[in-house]
Amino acid sequence: MPRVPAVPHVIYGADYNPEQWPPEVWREDVALMREAGVNLVSLGIFSWALLERAPGEFDFAWLDEVMELLHAGGIGVNLATATASPPPWLSTLYPDSRPVTVDGVRLEVGGRQLYCPSHPGFRAHVATLVRAMADRYGTHPAVQLWHVGNEYGCHIDQCYCDTCAVKFRAWLRARYTTLDALNAAWGTAFWSQHYGEWAQIQPPRRAPTYANPTQQLDWRRFSSDNILELYQLEAGILRDVTPDIPVTTNFLGFLPGLDYFEWATHEDVASVDAYPDPAAAHPHLEAGMIFDLTRSLRGGQRWILMEQATSAVNWRAINAPKAPGLTRLLNHQALAHGASGIMYFQWRASKAGAEKYHSALVQHPGPQRTRVWREVVAFGEELRTLTPLLDARVRARVGIVFDWHSRWALELDSKPAQLSLMPLVQAWYAALRQLGQNVDFVHPGGDLGAYDLLVMPNSYLLTDADATNVRAYVQGGGHLVTGFFSGIVDGHEHIGLGGYPASLRDVLGLWVEEWVPLHPDELTHVRFTGAATPVPATTWAEVIHPTGAEVLATFQDGYWQGGPAITRHVSGQGQATYIATQLPEQSLMDVLRGALTDAGMPHTTLPPHLDVTLSETQGGLILHLLNAHRADPVQVTVPGTLHTLDGQPLAQPLTLEPYGVRLVRVPAGFSVADITVVAGRH
Ligand code: GAL
Repeated sequence: MPRVPAVPHVIYGADYNPEQWPPEVWREDVALMREAGVNLVSLGIFSWALLERAPGEFDFAWLDEVMELLHAGGIGVNLATATASPPPWLSTLYPDSRPVTVDGVRLEVGGRQLYCPSHPGFRAHVATLVRAMADRYGTHPAVQLWHVGNEYGCHIDQCYCDTCAVKFRAWLRARYTTLDALNAAWGTAFWSQHYGEWAQIQPPRRAPTYANPTQQLDWRRFSSDNILELYQLEAGILRDVTPDIPVTTNFLGFLPGLDYFEWATHEDVASVDAYPDPAAAHPHLEAGMIFDLTRSLRGGQRWILMEQATSAVNWRAINAPKAPGLTRLLNHQALAHGASGIMYFQWRASKAGAEKYHSALVQHPGPQRTRVWREVVAFGEELRTLTPLLDARVRARVGIVFDWHSRWALELDSKPAQLSLMPLVQAWYAALRQLGQNVDFVHPGGDLGAYDLLVMPNSYLLTDADATNVRAYVQGGGHLVTGFFSGIVDGHEHIGLGGYPASLRDVLGLWVEEWVPLHPDELTHVRFTGAATPVPATTWAEVIHPTGAEVLATFQDGYWQGGPAITRHVSGQGQATYIATQLPEQSLMDVLRGALTDAGMPHTTLPPHLDVTLSETQGGLILHLLNAHRADPVQVTVPGTLHTLDGQPLAQPLTLEPYGVRLVRVPAGFSVADITVVAGRH
């Protein structure tokens, strides 16, 4: 896939908010950007109120000047459409353009993202502003990329106002055509919910008790589509006026509200904001998941890390700084996982406003006086040597199934237990990374044939088409490992009858009679065949009847004692493993290791703080070794002759200092099974 944008260097930069500073500072900024190796800034994201001070009264003079200064300094611009936060005049002009919460509260001015995505007046002003920006700057030589909006849905992912209700009904008409079809899909025979007219249908506002689950699910789908329509309004104008400038909008990792698999098809390049908590045990695992998702959204195309903090953020209860070296480590991790740009929020730390305690490249004490500045400048220098990575391809043979619709359905109320998807996905992701695997995220309806191993920590909802796709993957020779409570409902969130999970029973070779959700402090125990002692498991147990599946482990407690806990079943040319509980880390790794072996895939066992990625370039394989441990070094050996990126021979063992990074050219035929950790294993 071509590089987007087509620049010959790794992108390095930040959000730049010059409107918060007087013009003298702009000049200093450009000089400092050059010093830091910055080559792209995201400009104008929150500038609407100062670009259009009153309806139709545009003032581009200040932005013209900033654009010229940047261009003269050789800094490219990722130009925002400036629509992320409408000015106060807009909500005065259209009081009903303010979004409404599930409880019917209309939100007030004073924050940001204060808009109802459906409001026709808001949309008209958006369209006018975007066209004005494109007309004015579309031919400016500094502009390399369009930055549409900002983190759509980060604050407002659902608006429950009357305008949205009207649009919801239109969306439902397009989906179901007839009310009979809608009534059937929503199961409205239950609780006297039958609809006789479209006008009776409302968003799932606060109701006396559980709102209809399919109504809620369709509402989430509509809300993602509706905000996407807003993005497309802007992207359409930009493509019309400047067809040669690529378009992106910054995603926010696993943001709950938007179906990024759908959204990403409407971008030219994916970009993402990642804010792992530096105080977490393994911030690099949180970041790595986001990076791998972003690469996966557009089929492996390289992507841009659009925002991250240089150090602390301002929005957690406790905002830990990034210790020296962590920013560099995470930047290398982004590059290893497929980024072609490394950017930060923001260039210069604000002195006023809600984000004044958020870190930046230029911190409050002033440039050149902080270790954060020294670190970002050093990394800008280092990046100049990393251009070969721009053509690297991260190929994953393991796919984790992920689908926003299934997540929405799983996390609705009225279930056997309240389950959250992300902790399950995180545990499986961490296990696969420790087994040395490059990992993609893949939609259950996607091209599964690319993967030797497919894992589904949980896919509660599988549409008929997606279930057919997953079954065909297994029967055609694929290896599947799936977790509990997967394949339970169809696309309408109706349960498949005849023994759970109806859509996967045949490939799993079993049926489930009962679920036993466990309380947070409750354990069940699982004994692997041949193991002396059982292991404690959490969250869930089941009563399972094998219909051909081999039992790998059994439950040891309660009335479900002696029944299967983990099974494996040959189905067609492939096989499917089922895990009916939440296993501790080592046991989950054991099961996944077994599945990798069965699939004929190389694997190893790495300490959790060692991030290993293999990428492919025209010039051969590159092994990215990152030690995310803050205190201890790691040493590894790899058979064969190793070289640096620029071709110098490397001595072994390879030592990685705390937060250390090694980029190693490894011989053709290298596999992760060749890595031996000789010191630093925890
Ligand atoms: C992002 C947002 C930025 C800034 C940043 C602070 O979510 O896009 O504008 O608010 O968070 O961490």
